[in-house]
Amino acid sequence: MTIPDLQKRKAEGRKIVMVTAYDALFTRIVEEAGLDVLLVGDSLGVVVQGKKDTLSVTMEDMLYHTKLVAGAAQHSLVIGDMPFLSYQVSVEEAVRNAGRFLQAGAAAVKLEGGAAVVDRVEAMTRFGIPVMGHLGMTPQSVHKYGGYKVQGKGAEQAEQLLADARALEAAGAFALVLEAVPAKLAKTITQALSIPTIGIGAGPDCDGQVLVLYDLLGLFDQFVPKFVKPYAHLKADALQALRRYREEVEQGKFPTDSESYH
Ligand code: KIV
Repeated sequence: MTIPDLQKRKAEGRKIVMVTAYDALFTRIVEEAGLDVLLVGDSLGVVVQGKKDTLSVTMEDMLYHTKLVAGAAQHSLVIGDMPFLSYQVSVEEAVRNAGRFLQAGAAAVKLEGGAAVVDRVEAMTRFGIPVMGHLGMTPQSVHKYGGYKVQGKGAEQAEQLLADARALEAAGAFALVLEAVPAKLAKTITQALSIPTIGIGAGPDCDGQVLVLYDLLGLFDQFVPKFVKPYAHLKADALQALRRYREEVEQGKFPTDSESYH
């Protein structure tokens, strides 16, 4: 999957399927299932590192996980998520950090924000670094929003989001994540842009969808937003397996002869 392939999908009306990935094991499983795009999301701060938000994730953390995913990926497009403070301070730092993601094996980067990051997107694109935008509920601004809340509900906010989306497209973004915005607004933005939109909590009319892998597998249950659909219940399965293992070891039932060397 390449960026031109991804953009062709919109013209063909074929949905793009994206999921987060953080390691080689799950990258192989996701690819076997035939998904299109792997996002090494800074959500790893919450689901892998156990933090309450994504703000403490560092470039080093992101590059480590990007190398694991990119090293295992064979067909899907790998996108590295730029962590908090890696692109906000200056255009120069933003370009340098984005370039480090490409050196780690990603084909593109994602960053959060609208008008405030347009100059970053322009500069990266100019230097051959493809950029995916991210609008709506942008988790790195959680304190500004006072929590993880739906964005773009009022007319003024909706206008602003549409203007930001257009500005990102004009700056060269190749696609746009829309997170936690009303479905109707996501549809309007999707129709207004020629680049694909990827929704998460943004209704069915986006050009593609993304979910956090551990949410969709039912592994992470500490905070489950309305937009998450667990397609499996792996936490329950893991608990059952671990409890059985504990019981069998305690009761001397494991290992048996067939698990022993002779
Ligand atoms: O960090 C992440 O996983 C993300 C997606 C949820 C879009 O930004």
